[in-house]
Amino acid sequence: MIIAIDGPAGSGKSTVAKLLASRLNFTHIETGSMYRAVAWKAQKLGLDLSDAERVAETAKNLDLHFIPGPDGQKVRVDGEDASPYLKSVSQAAAQVAGYAGVREILVARQRLMGAEGDSVMEGRDIGTDVFPNAEIKFFMDADPVERGHRRYEELKAQGRDVDLDHIIEQVKKRDHEDRNRAVSPLRQADGAILIDTTKRTIEQVVEEMLERVQSYSATKIP
Ligand code: DC
Repeated sequence: MIIAIDGPAGSGKSTVAKLLASRLNFTHIETGSMYRAVAWKAQKLGLDLSDAERVAETAKNLDLHFIPGPDGQKVRVDGEDASPYLKSVSQAAAQVAGYAGVREILVARQRLMGAEGDSVMEGRDIGTDVFPNAEIKFFMDADPVERGHRRYEELKAQGRDVDLDHIIEQVKKRDHEDRNRAVSPLRQADGAILIDTTKRTIEQVVEEMLERVQSYSATKIP
């Protein structure tokens, strides 16, 4: 079974997907970290990120694995643990995610990963492009101001000196980029269940999603 979760940055996708996967004993596949891994590797190789062809070549050659562990999942790229670096390549990841050649390679890998067993796969185009026939699709969203607040709290907790208004503007800018890019723009897939996480706790959201999965299983699985 594939559970597809899409939504904008800060909607709570990753936290919820991880909990949902662990409650169901499914594999959690965070596809955003694959785009981040390509961006990180391309930068490490000193490539010009505007060279779509060379970036796609990097994606093609990348040896990428998700390694489960006691402190969560790690992303191994060409034998190296890239996890600590992936959060800091957001802008570069958004740039490489706009290249059709990169998407083609990563989407093919995501389909292979999903074919290996029950998965909760999250990203921006899982229910629309990667697995349009996923058994269950969710689209998570939240008010951009609240998403900005969440991001602000996260960065402050890391001891970063940040400005709330600037962060909210950044959230809105990334939404605009994700929803308006030429290839695979972010949108709610046909048949996706909309989950608005504004003013709701993670536990409430996970419970609602579990109920949806259970009612699906009760009707579809003999
Ligand atoms: O979810 P994230 O912020 O880690 O994603 C990093 C970038 O990759 C972001 O710009 C959106 C993009 N992305 C995408 O285009 N398609 C996906 N399936 C996942 C992420």
